[in-house]
Amino acid sequence: VSKIRIGMIGCGVVGQGVLRLLHENAKSIEARLGGSIEVRRVVARDRGKSRGPHLRDAQLGFDPEALLTDPEIDVVVEVMGGLEPAGAFVQRALTAGKSVVTANKALIADRGHALMELAERRGADLYFEAAVAGGIPVIRVLREALVSDRIVAVRGIVNGTSNYILSQMQEQGLAFEVALKQAQQAGYAEADPTLDVGGGDAAHKLTILATMAFGARGELQSLTTEGIDTVDAADIEFARRYGYVIKPLAVARALPSGALDLRVHPALVTKDDPLAHINGALNAVHIEGAALGPCLLSGLGAGALPTAVSVVSDIVDVGRNLFAQASGRVAGSPFSTGRAPSIQPIADYRGRYYLRFSVRDQRGVLGKLATALGERDVSIEQMVQEGHGKDQPVSVVLLTHPAREGDLRAALAEIDKLSFVVEPARALRIEA
Ligand code: NDP
Ligand code: HSE
Repeated sequence: VSKIRIGMIGCGVVGQGVLRLLHENAKSIEARLGGSIEVRRVVARDRGKSRGPHLRDAQLGFDPEALLTDPEIDVVVEVMGGLEPAGAFVQRALTAGKSVVTANKALIADRGHALMELAERRGADLYFEAAVAGGIPVIRVLREALVSDRIVAVRGIVNGTSNYILSQMQEQGLAFEVALKQAQQAGYAEADPTLDVGGGDAAHKLTILATMAFGARGELQSLTTEGIDTVDAADIEFARRYGYVIKPLAVARALPSGALDLRVHPALVTKDDPLAHINGALNAVHIEGAALGPCLLSGLGAGALPTAVSVVSDIVDVGRNLFAQASGRVAGSPFSTGRAPSIQPIADYRGRYYLRFSVRDQRGVLGKLATALGERDVSIEQMVQEGHGKDQPVSVVLLTHPAREGDLRAALAEIDKLSFVVEPARALRIEA
């Protein structure tokens, strides 16, 4: 029987999920791999923490150096997160010719290109299925199942924490902070949850998806990134009345010009959109292939076991390659061959918008709002005013016809300066 020996850096939510899956499904994994997996070393940081029932004391250490220099380790599994020192550890492992499995989207989004080139030079594998959408096998689908097709668009919900929070606010009326706490307790959130609620984590994943789908090498700086921390309970309620739900979207579209439309932001989607029913920590990725047409993948995007399924399937793939002496067999990954894309400036994006103004209830206000928008070619499709206002501000909510974002933002900047405006305008895109 052949055996692969792994060293795992990190033993938190995902790491403990990996140990549990390797233990509970050992027999079937061994049968499918055609060999066994030995967890030779696990490295963590805090000596006082409990690591669950599937780790022996002899396996646990606190010195990454001992793991990285262990010649008996074939595969390094990086589930600690962050750019450094995780990046240096992965680089060291690849340089030593060891294959790497990682769940680290920040690292792959930022340095996937250099690390993949290094892996290819060293004849090693670098796998990262868990980095995007947790348990959904979307990287494999793009890399293997759709290799013959030309991808036109990838659109989805790729941050479980944000989707969980918005779902809880929408369905249970929970406050943002309470829902975030629940997501953290369930193990969905990043160590720094501002990455989740500010859109940064979804931007990392979209960067990876854009590389896999379009050969577009990471350009995080020019990617429009807005988090769900800008969404109020009032917006959820108004959206519902208009027949929409608010979802944390990530969108990558190939435009006829050859540029890419890349965006991460909360958006209103109609109730019959397939993404409208993806709730809680579920993720979904809707891929459109020129030949295939639409393809929707959905499943749990965060949490110990769903993520572990992706990590362990990568370990098995890497193991199969090792047994066949074919590590690094697939050269020409979009990460090593991709090019910096041209990205459409967000000012040129054209779509419909939901707008909410908080204004004093004075004569002529609606007319002035409509005029300021109309002068910038933003035309109104529907409008409601709510609240009775002597001293209280009222909300004016409207939906626009398709407009150019640059024009809309210019109109909103002018409106925000008007004397009757109490708070800056809120704008959310409507993704039809
Ligand atoms: P956790 O914070 O639960 O675990 C991180 C682990 O890394 C901990 O065991 C920690 O040690 C260890 N660690 C951190 N720094 C070091 C260091 N310098 N040296 C050694 N060990 C270190 O994170 P998660 O398990 O949630 O996430 C891990 C990775 O997986 C991240 O990249 C994350 O983005 C990704 N991911 C997470 C998902 C999820 O649902 N949680 C889903 C998909 C991907 P200690 O325990 O001692 O503090
Ligand atoms: N924090 C991430 C999320 C984990 O909530 O989606 C999965 O990548």
